[in-house]
Amino acid sequence: MKIADKIFYGGDYNPDQWDNETIRQDMIYFKEAGINLVTLPVFSWAKLEPDEGVYDFGWLDELMNLFAENDISVCLATPTVAQPAWLSSRYPEVLPVDIAGRRRTHGMRVFFCYNSLKYRQRAAAIAEEMAKRYQNHPALAVWHVANEYGTYCYCPICQAQFRVWLRKRYGNIDNLNEKWNTAFWGRTLYSFEEVMLPTELNDDYRFNPAIQLDYMRFVTDSTAECFENEYRVLKKYTPDIPVQTNMSGYIKKLDQFKMAEKMDIIGWDNYPWPTDDRSFIAFKHDIMRGLKNGQSYMLMEQSPNQQNWQPYNKLKRPGEVRLLSYQALAHGADTCLFFQMRQSIGGQEKFHGAVISHAGHNDTRVFREIKQLGHELAAIGDACVGAYSSSKVGILMDWNNWWALELASGPSKDMNYLSTVAKYYRAFYEQNISIDILGYGADLSGYKIIVAPMLYMLKDNISAKIEKFVNDGGILILTTMSGLVDENDRCVFGAYPGPLRDVAGLWVEETDALFPHEKNGIEFSELLPGFDKRYSCGFLCDLIRLTTAEPLATYTDDFYAGKVCFSRNHYGAGKAYYIGTEPEQAFLNNLAAEICQQAKVQAPFQADEGVEITVRHTETVETIFIINHNSASACVQLGNNVYNNRITAEDVSGRFELAAYDVAVLVRANR
Ligand code: GLA
Ligand code: ZN
Repeated sequence: MKIADKIFYGGDYNPDQWDNETIRQDMIYFKEAGINLVTLPVFSWAKLEPDEGVYDFGWLDELMNLFAENDISVCLATPTVAQPAWLSSRYPEVLPVDIAGRRRTHGMRVFFCYNSLKYRQRAAAIAEEMAKRYQNHPALAVWHVANEYGTYCYCPICQAQFRVWLRKRYGNIDNLNEKWNTAFWGRTLYSFEEVMLPTELNDDYRFNPAIQLDYMRFVTDSTAECFENEYRVLKKYTPDIPVQTNMSGYIKKLDQFKMAEKMDIIGWDNYPWPTDDRSFIAFKHDIMRGLKNGQSYMLMEQSPNQQNWQPYNKLKRPGEVRLLSYQALAHGADTCLFFQMRQSIGGQEKFHGAVISHAGHNDTRVFREIKQLGHELAAIGDACVGAYSSSKVGILMDWNNWWALELASGPSKDMNYLSTVAKYYRAFYEQNISIDILGYGADLSGYKIIVAPMLYMLKDNISAKIEKFVNDGGILILTTMSGLVDENDRCVFGAYPGPLRDVAGLWVEETDALFPHEKNGIEFSELLPGFDKRYSCGFLCDLIRLTTAEPLATYTDDFYAGKVCFSRNHYGAGKAYYIGTEPEQAFLNNLAAEICQQAKVQAPFQADEGVEITVRHTETVETIFIINHNSASACVQLGNNVYNNRITAEDVSGRFELAAYDVAVLVRANR
């Protein structure tokens, strides 16, 4: 989907805080910085509807017109993330109840019960007012619904709705008892009315994880309905304007594949921690690109400078915002938007970075950097907007798997799905191998390599798909904690990895959990190309029984020293590697290099370490993003073709040097 013939550049503007003079002045700064889109009025429900059914849109009309006159588009937000005080006090059911049973007070945002009918009625009503009013407005470019959904509510309405949801899913109570395996601990239920919400506060893993899992699914479904409640209204008036909501960087709470089904285009907020590895940021971008099968997405927010909500809010270093912005574009973003355009003078986020700071003018380092970037993006034009990436490596990732794996009591309390997947991602990323993040529903046939880290939960026919993929010639990486449970978290498949035993050519008899300070080792008896003799490993160690697989490496320590921990199985025309432990990163990097070579999957160019290269293409243009993450200059070997660097307008080829933290955006030069 191509949302514009340019890269949208700008961000959240909350003008209900500013007087007319400030707004007029901002318009001049925005033009100067190359801003072409603002998101508003995300938090203005209180001002737009001061009393139930009483609307005041006059001020927003003026703003919309002002932006249109200035040729700045608007991402128009329904203001439904922060309900007005009258709504909370007149209808207390709108306020959410937390896991401890406390009805929350008015004062926060995303503080509403997504199942409250009253909330949904009022939200749909104001969305309708807006849609009717602005459906033909020239500034309207994209819709934005609410903001960063993700509340978990435990109120009586949610309790009742959960029972309805369960009835629909399981039909009768006997089926529910069977699927939740309530016979264990004698937790049998005699009717749906007896189902209580899983409100266990102690982190001692004693609640039945099957119930918790279903509650998380239910919260996603309820939130998706809440989004749809407004989506439907907006689409009625403006069928051609894309509708999205911005996803929070903390993405575990809601199954984002399910949320994505309801959205026209993905929007997400990138707030990396200063300590994040660059691969982790890239990984999150690729998740966003994966949510709609490779469709490009909107970078809805990032901070132009420091955050305020981290414990230590480091300034963005000179050039850092630029680098992070290009990294987003390189991985599939079509927009580069900030929170926020002007820094609030009070409230929760008064110290959050902004394009225009409390200084109030344009004579700041941050403004100059934003302005430079704005001019660069204008020069790049629309070459990459709506473009795709073509990856031959796919990594499977699933939210139900994530939740269930981390809800399980044992074998280790340190289960961390996201960081496990991120390690496998990093192994390919560091070699500039493009990766697609795939849900269980994805078509695997176009890939040469599929990595399935901790494929704990088998559902949606995923094991048959994987088997076919390998049988047809694909290379698979499977790991410990795979093939353990069905979609209700029951271990019903026999020996692990369940139905994947044949493709892996082994079964796992036991799994040892190591203390955090403990390590084991991986040792090759015969050296494989590209590997060292020994690596360290830890966390979990499977005790593996090979059937058809060949052993590649063994443990070095403990009572299972000498037993296999890494194997390969030829299956049909393909092969499956099994890693029974958590190896150090170097092992994964070497494995990635080796199998990419086998599969003839290559980086676009050879480059020095720390240089990130990605390619996005449309039917007609290929755009190459080169980002030097090093604090020193670094080189890329471009070969004989001549490319035009859209940032500097220079033609380049052969050995191409980038300064520290510099970026290049190349397209083939027309010659
Ligand atoms: C989120 C929200 C914004 C703002 C930023 C601050 O992403 O969507 O409204 O609070 O965080 O980093
Ligand atoms: Zn509720």
